[in-house]
Amino acid sequence: MSRRNETLRVGVLASGRGSNLQAILDASERGEIPARVVVVLSDREEALALQRARDRGIPAIWVNPKAFPDKAAYEETLLSHLREHGVGLVALAGYMRLVGPTLLRAFPHRIMNIHPALLPAFPGLHAQRRALEHGVKVAGCTVHFVDEGVDTGPIILQAAVPVLEDDTEETLAARILEQEHRIYPQAIRLFAQGRLIVEGRRVRISPEES
Ligand code: GAR
Repeated sequence: MSRRNETLRVGVLASGRGSNLQAILDASERGEIPARVVVVLSDREEALALQRARDRGIPAIWVNPKAFPDKAAYEETLLSHLREHGVGLVALAGYMRLVGPTLLRAFPHRIMNIHPALLPAFPGLHAQRRALEHGVKVAGCTVHFVDEGVDTGPIILQAAVPVLEDDTEETLAARILEQEHRIYPQAIRLFAQGRLIVEGRRVRISPEES
């Protein structure tokens, strides 16, 4: 939790395209959230997310998981970069690895993730395709705190979208993505304002102080 009037320093972990990272960067730049991205880390050298950060002059670092003997050693390196940049919140934005105890212990209730489904439905990979195949009429996305499970942590915000008759995986994913780009910066804003109170599985959102 950050103190009021202090800009929250966000570290982003991303594996790919980085459109959620972009949404966070844009919201921060527009002054909509009292937070700024100070470092972007990726497990994939070719991740577009790294380029998006570099374009803004933000440190963007590829940490190759294969260069380490195990997950703990890999995450120690992530951790040292996050600490070096004074990160107060870690935002996973299309980071396609399970977070291990090294990072979880270092950032208790300070790691968020965005998932393209209305959790607890469709955790894990290919959430949009599985929602479509299952025949749901409403799909959506979830921002949640990260715990040791796969997309199981306390839910912060969700947004729903309709599934249309002629939807494909791509059209549904695009409709959901639009909502991801809206609620992820919103969740970071709430965190930065110190308004997220975790009570067991529930995340209470306290009212904005006037
Ligand atoms: C997003 O749809 C995000 O919700 C999803 O990957 C995409 C990343 O897009 N994440 C997961 O499925 C994590 N379980 P982006 O790189 O353009 O932000």
